[in-house]
Amino acid sequence: MIAKAVFGVIATAALLVSQGATEILYAGVNSAGGEFAQQNLPGAFGIDYQFINETSIDFFLRAGVNTIRIPFLLERMCPLATGLGSTFNETYFSEFKNAVNYITAKGGYVVLDAHNYMRYNDPSSQPSSGSIIGNTSDPKAATTSNLATFWTALSTRFITNPNVIYGIMNEPHDMPTSLILQNNQAAINAIRTTGARQLILVPGNGFSGAQRWLNRTCSNSTADCAPNGDVLTQITDPGKNFAFDMHLYFDNDTSGTHEACTLAAPSNLRPVTTWLQQHNYTAFLSEFGAGSSADPTCAKTLNDTLGFLEGSDRWIGWTYWAAGPLWGNEYFLSVEPGEGKQANSTWPDVLAPRVKAYQPMVRCGVSTSVGEMAGEGARRERGEQGCLGLKLPG
Ligand SMILES: *[C@@H]1O[C@H](CO)[C@@H](O)[C@H](O)[C@H]1NC(C)=O
Ligand SMILES: *[C@@H]1O[C@H](CO)[C@@H](O)[C@H](O)[C@H]1NC(C)=O
Ligand SMILES: *[C@@H]1O[C@H](CO)[C@@H](O)[C@H](O)[C@H]1NC(C)=O
Ligand SMILES: *[C@@H]1O[C@H](CO)[C@@H](O)[C@H](O)[C@H]1NC(C)=O
Ligand SMILES: *[C@@H]1O[C@H](CO)[C@@H](O)[C@H](O)[C@H]1NC(C)=O
Ligand SMILES: *[C@@H]1O[C@H](CO)[C@@H](O)[C@H](O)[C@H]1NC(C)=O
Ligand SMILES: *[C@@H]1O[C@H](CO)[C@@H](O)[C@H](O)[C@H]1NC(C)=O
Ligand SMILES: *[C@@H]1O[C@H](CO)[C@@H](O)[C@H](O)[C@H]1NC(C)=O
Ligand SMILES: *[C@@H]1O[C@H](CO)[C@@H](O)[C@H](O)[C@H]1NC(C)=O
Repeated sequence: MIAKAVFGVIATAALLVSQGATEILYAGVNSAGGEFAQQNLPGAFGIDYQFINETSIDFFLRAGVNTIRIPFLLERMCPLATGLGSTFNETYFSEFKNAVNYITAKGGYVVLDAHNYMRYNDPSSQPSSGSIIGNTSDPKAATTSNLATFWTALSTRFITNPNVIYGIMNEPHDMPTSLILQNNQAAINAIRTTGARQLILVPGNGFSGAQRWLNRTCSNSTADCAPNGDVLTQITDPGKNFAFDMHLYFDNDTSGTHEACTLAAPSNLRPVTTWLQQHNYTAFLSEFGAGSSADPTCAKTLNDTLGFLEGSDRWIGWTYWAAGPLWGNEYFLSVEPGEGKQANSTWPDVLAPRVKAYQPMVRCGVSTSVGEMAGEGARRERGEQGCLGLKLPG
């Protein structure tokens, strides 16, 4: 209720653009869970999988967060019987849409995250199982064209909601970077062909790792997997509104599976940030996570990383990994209110103060990358667009 009143006031043209010095336009958390128990297809809502806890979302929105990234599983959205494409499981889609609309109706942005590692057909042992999308040597693989059809269908369903952001794919890895380019480009073209104008997040090889964006990433050293920095410069967006989607974890192998923060962050963000500057690109850190803030190294690494993002003009947003209704009290990265292991440490100690400093954050208007947002034209357009999708095409 408080959140609603606040957003009602903010939704006026004058306040639509953050007036602070920061360039961070989107800040918040992942709400993981829609992709859980992936070995159980289709799975039961509320038991195997669940997208958000509305009480928790209200908590984050009241704290000033304006963005939630919501993973979904492609095999649940597009059942194996009909394959990756435009035929959805309408029950799963409704559950997802309810979560998205709950947030966007309150002025929040939502990253629609296809949490599939650029694979489809066997999520049971993610991130490794399943056929690589577009692998023409694999007769069981979904095609690049199937992926495009899927994104046409999903973006058509959300075309009138300015507050969504299209996350093409979570963490592609161990595949030719040229195929990631091909799949990304097909998804972008599909989304823009519908007329959708919202921000698109474009992932890369090596689990979208920001720290190795300029490095070869495949575990198989002879495989064709050139650095993202060499290949993804060929991406073109007819809508001129994309950002690269990157992840960063602070443990010794950047896997986000160890509590100790031993990585040299944020210095490891410098190479990719220079690349972003050289090419006039922007990036969004849609996953990052560190062990407890009770560990001074974790608190410092995490805090310094956020400071680095803020001090650069190339990083437009971040969503911490992770909140989510089904983590329980065991997962070491969870910031889910009331039960997450870091709900009373990392969240209030490190993340919440940063979010507070960004206020007021944009709450409505078509999701966009920093370049457009910075201009007066964009400011005007946001005012005219209104908050709830009245003037979008579709
Ligand atoms: C959501 O969180 C609240 C408060 O922690 C809890 O009481 C409630 O059971 C949760 N609801 C769901 C559906 O998980
Ligand atoms: C669709 O999803 C619902 C909810 O998970 C599930 O009960 C149902 O069996 C699914 N249908 C198909 C065809 O997968
Ligand atoms: C593509 O599929 C073939 C046949 O299943 C497989 O041998 C190959 O490893 C796959 N490519 C990659 C990059 O995994
Ligand atoms: C990436 O390559 C550079 C230059 O060779 C090297 O210094 C750096 O350690 C590599 N980074 C990773 C994460 O492998
Ligand atoms: C490594 O990649 C090469 C070239 O794509 C391929 O021929 C070889 O089978 C791969 N090795 C393994 C162990 O996957
Ligand atoms: C990372 O740390 C874990 C736990 O301390 C250890 O088992 C593992 O070998 C380390 N991995 C690397 C790549 O250093
Ligand atoms: C965090 O603090 C709240 C309120 O004091 C409490 O209800 C909750 O159990 C605590 N969570 C953890 C994981 O300690
Ligand atoms: C985070 O860094 C800021 C400076 O950028 C500092 O004011 C603040 O105290 C730091 N917070 C923590 C928890 O270290
Ligand atoms: C950089 O990108 C922004 C937004 O896409 C664009 O408006 C601007 O003209 C670009 N600048 C250069 C030097 O290309």
